[in-house]
Amino acid sequence: MSRLKLEGVTRRFGGLVAVDDVSFEVPAEGVTAVIGPNGAGKTTLFNLISGALPPSAGRILFEGQDITGLPAHKVATAGLVRTFQLVKLFEDLSVLDNVKVGCHLQGRAGLFAALLRPASARREEAAVDARARELLDFAGLSAFADEPASGLPYGRQRMLELARATAAGPRLILLDEPAAGLNTEESAALSRIIRRIADDGTSVLLIEHDMTLVMNTADRVVVVDFGRKIAQGTPAEVRADPAVIAAYLGTGKPSPDPAATQEAAHG
Ligand SMILES: Nc1ncnc2c1ncn2[C@@H]1O[C@H](COP(=O)(O)OP(=O)(O)OP(=O)(O)O)[C@@H](O)[C@H]1O
Ligand SMILES: [Mg+2]
Repeated sequence: MSRLKLEGVTRRFGGLVAVDDVSFEVPAEGVTAVIGPNGAGKTTLFNLISGALPPSAGRILFEGQDITGLPAHKVATAGLVRTFQLVKLFEDLSVLDNVKVGCHLQGRAGLFAALLRPASARREEAAVDARARELLDFAGLSAFADEPASGLPYGRQRMLELARATAAGPRLILLDEPAAGLNTEESAALSRIIRRIADDGTSVLLIEHDMTLVMNTADRVVVVDFGRKIAQGTPAEVRADPAVIAAYLGTGKPSPDPAATQEAAHG
């Protein structure tokens, strides 16, 4: 069984069809990327999967369970979490506490129940603290544990977001442009972290414009343009696909195939 299955998913905003009859499956293993030019409908697709928006038509199955139209908090507790195109952290909380909040999302007791049941909650709190510190270590953030999240440089804020999103041990994580604004070195570190998340058993669905990251990190790629799926396959297959190359021409964005972009630029 695939971890996620989309069947004819559609979303209209008035007359605009932002996501148009999209179907694909995300296997349990590895990293699946969604690419496409600006405005193609990628973030809207994530909003539909994560429950931020209901689809106008179609079905979304998570581990075989129909989650179509479920509210976001129910989708999250089912084990499907997301990050956002723009960083969203609890800025006034410490770096460590940001990750702890992520742990509590699926914590057995839950944050409020934990406050009401001090004895068992204390044991859980110790486990959460240990897990959160382990995640910070993994994300290279241990040295900043007690600093406010707002004080972190931008690249490290993105890493913290990732650590927080994985804290509850989700079975599927949606990452919306995690490499946006990162330098080459930070992107390479991010790629390693994403691989590791996938190797640890969390299926990853990744929206990304950074083609180096996509080509190096993704096992398979789904390409959308004007809301429609226009291609899917391995990174090598989609970068050679004429429909994909055509979709990227004239957008000012690097094509999945650098050679094609160069040819276009030179004539
Ligand atoms: N809440 C909304 N109301 C109306 N139109 C919307 C809404 N959200 C998105 N759209 C429109 O839907 C289309 C797809 O937008 P979306 O943000 O999904 O694209 P994207 O592929 O994520 O683009 P980018 O790469 O720039 O992030 C765009 O035309 C956008 O203006
Ligand atoms: Mg987007």
